[in-house]
Amino acid sequence: MAQSEYVFQRVENQRELERLRMIEQVFDPASRRRLLGAGLQAGWRCLEVGPGAGSVMTWMGEVAGPTGQVVAVDLDPKFLGESRQSKVEIVRADIRTAQFPEQSFDLVHARYVLIHLPDYEVALTKMVDSLKPGGWLVLEEPDFSASRGITGDEQELESLRKVNQAIEQMYATRGLDYELGLKLPALMQRRGLQRLTVENDAPLCAGGSGIATVMKLSTEQLREKYLATGVVGPSDLERYCRFADDPNSWAIYYATIAVSGRKAGG
Ligand SMILES: C[S@@+](CC[C@H](N)C(=O)[O-])C[C@H]1O[C@@H](n2cnc3c(N)ncnc32)[C@H](O)[C@@H]1O
Repeated sequence: MAQSEYVFQRVENQRELERLRMIEQVFDPASRRRLLGAGLQAGWRCLEVGPGAGSVMTWMGEVAGPTGQVVAVDLDPKFLGESRQSKVEIVRADIRTAQFPEQSFDLVHARYVLIHLPDYEVALTKMVDSLKPGGWLVLEEPDFSASRGITGDEQELESLRKVNQAIEQMYATRGLDYELGLKLPALMQRRGLQRLTVENDAPLCAGGSGIATVMKLSTEQLREKYLATGVVGPSDLERYCRFADDPNSWAIYYATIAVSGRKAGG
């Protein structure tokens, strides 16, 4: 198994929880719509991979209800505590090596998890194998190559470009692909998933909005890693954070590629 430490593994907990909660606030409505679109309903057995702060896991547990079940697997479930839902089971494990009975889930979901794995193919195979015939896989992963500043002076736009290059470089030195989202449709097609629905969600947003704030928090937390790429300097990071705070600035920070597909059979 290819080793690469999860980039947010050693960041400060309170700031990381704030970042994860902001991700949930911005992206949960679309994730819920996609999961319901895949058919999520009472009685389903679901696998949530990398639940982070846990809002999708908890909501899935409510929809699946007492006749269903949710298994939530996270490398480090430190933000989840004990689940108060008897049908939600939290498992501390690496998705690549976790042991599940094959063909046991109606639905498997992961958001912003595969992007952190050099051998995402191993995780993907594990997820597909764990689906029942006719079960649904819903994946949502970023494409940072979609990043683009729209307003701003030359210096600001240059800092935005450089921070994005640093993100690409930071991922690349760890064997990670900063535009992994773009590859999801082909990866799922090659595994025989059918009835693919593909969305490319690249919001154009103002500074101070949810996505801009997520990216500012990431930049603050990964500051040393971005600097270590040699692509950006401290002044670029400061300018990027000011831009991401400014309600008069406009940018596409990244795209989320969301793909739903059904395993054959069933
Ligand atoms: C960026 S967070 C996303 C959290 C959540 N899915 C969301 O979108 O709100 C990535 C999560 O995946 C978990 N994770 C990273 N690598 C993992 C692995 N190999 N197996 C299981 N979980 C992993 C992290 O601990 C973290 O909780």
